[in-house]
Amino acid sequence: MIHVVGIGPGDDAYLTQMGSHIIEQAEVLVGAKRNLESITHFKGLKREMDSSLGELVNYLKANSDKKIALLASGDPLIYGIGKYLSEHMGKDQLSIVPGISAIQYMFSKIPLDMNDLYITSSHGKTPNFDKILEYSKVALVTDTLVGPCEIANEILKRGLAKVLLVGENLTYANEKITRFKPEELTKENKFDRNVVVILDEK
Ligand SMILES: C[S@@+](CC[C@H](N)C(=O)[O-])C[C@H]1O[C@@H](n2cnc3c(N)ncnc32)[C@H](O)[C@@H]1O
Repeated sequence: MIHVVGIGPGDDAYLTQMGSHIIEQAEVLVGAKRNLESITHFKGLKREMDSSLGELVNYLKANSDKKIALLASGDPLIYGIGKYLSEHMGKDQLSIVPGISAIQYMFSKIPLDMNDLYITSSHGKTPNFDKILEYSKVALVTDTLVGPCEIANEILKRGLAKVLLVGENLTYANEKITRFKPEELTKENKFDRNVVVILDEK
């Protein structure tokens, strides 16, 4: 059985008790460098994940006799590794421990309900802005190519009355949440790792 543990947005205070328990019991922790580094007290083996998801699945299948915990940021099933693993591993081989998503945490800080929220991502793709900007409440996990400025530009191109909330370094000491009108964002604005929320201007 492979346990996929959602470790939350960053600060380990947001790791669930179940996630913490599974990590304590594990012989091997697998994950991205940042996620492995966030688990400081672990005494077993840490194995950094490379970019090939196919090789990761092969490794997990070949080592299913070991107690492996695969670390995922936030919640594994919100734009995380959970989707790929649930499609490429037997359901009976996989146990997913949900974590607090960066998006969920961001909403707790705004604070705003997540009812009828449209969740998407700009990781490795350009979102369909015609579609997503029809919604009155949207949250995106972003990458460096399509971030707050590019999103603001898409809003401006369509002449829509929207505001953006950008949450950087969520849960960390340098966390920053800023509200922008689209016209306030230009290429000069630089952002750390962030979540973007788009709302209708009220
Ligand atoms: C591959 S996605 C994983 C999302 C994750 N599964 C979740 O539920 O939060 C990575 C993106 O999540 C967002 N993210 C994750 N942790 C964050 C944090 N602490 N502060 C701001 N954004 C964060 C960023 O947009 C980052 O590029």
